Amino acid sequence: MNEDSEPLDPGDLPDIDPAGALDDLLLFGNPETRRRFLKQVAGTSAAITLGPALMRMGSAGAAEVPAPPANVASVGTAAVHLKINGKVHALEIDPRVTLLDALRERLNLTGSKKGCDHGQCGACTVLVNGRRINSCLSFAVTHEGDEITTIEGLANGEELHPVQAAFIEHDGFQCGYCTPGQICSAVALLKEGHAKTDSEIREWMSGNLCRCGAYPNIVAAIKEAQGKSGGPKGA
Ligand code: FES
Ligand code: FES
Repeated sequence: MNEDSEPLDPGDLPDIDPAGALDDLLLFGNPETRRRFLKQVAGTSAAITLGPALMRMGSAGAAEVPAPPANVASVGTAAVHLKINGKVHALEIDPRVTLLDALRERLNLTGSKKGCDHGQCGACTVLVNGRRINSCLSFAVTHEGDEITTIEGLANGEELHPVQAAFIEHDGFQCGYCTPGQICSAVALLKEGHAKTDSEIREWMSGNLCRCGAYPNIVAAIKEAQGKSGGPKGA
């Protein structure tokens, strides 16, 4: 035993109630805390039991659902006219359908690819009124009256668009999955005037990923297309 320690006086110890006060002391600090806890549990149980009834009351008093837009039909579809590659297509579609799905699933224009479906890879890039967008992030019904150009609409008959020709010339692809999106993006890039240097091309094409790593050839193709025509006239 340590010489400095004093013998324990039994009178200093707390009284312990064998009927459960020790539990309260250890779990809740004191009996009052335990009683509060039990009341809260009882209250929560009652709330769980009453939940469905309360929810019914809430929905009965909720505000009315707003009326759908004018072009949304009663059965949950919407009428839209999509002008794609110069041709107008009349569609009745679920308003939640993306432009990419409308192109691929409804119009059989499968050149635009679905990579991530989350706006992260650029495989779905198309041109809308000359600007590039990720078609997987855009609802088809929002494009009434827009001029939409997909990879299928870039060539002029048998004559490839200068960017398409340059991609072939410079092997700007391997598996080709990202290529339609890369080409559409490059067409817009040249119109935007963002292809003055290699690093500028890389920066402004950074939304289009290529798993095959064909980036040096893609940059070379874009430079070639720009050099040939001083910048393609667009889609
Ligand atoms: S599929 Fe649209 S960005 Fe990847
Ligand atoms: S060529 Fe294969 S992903 Fe780009």
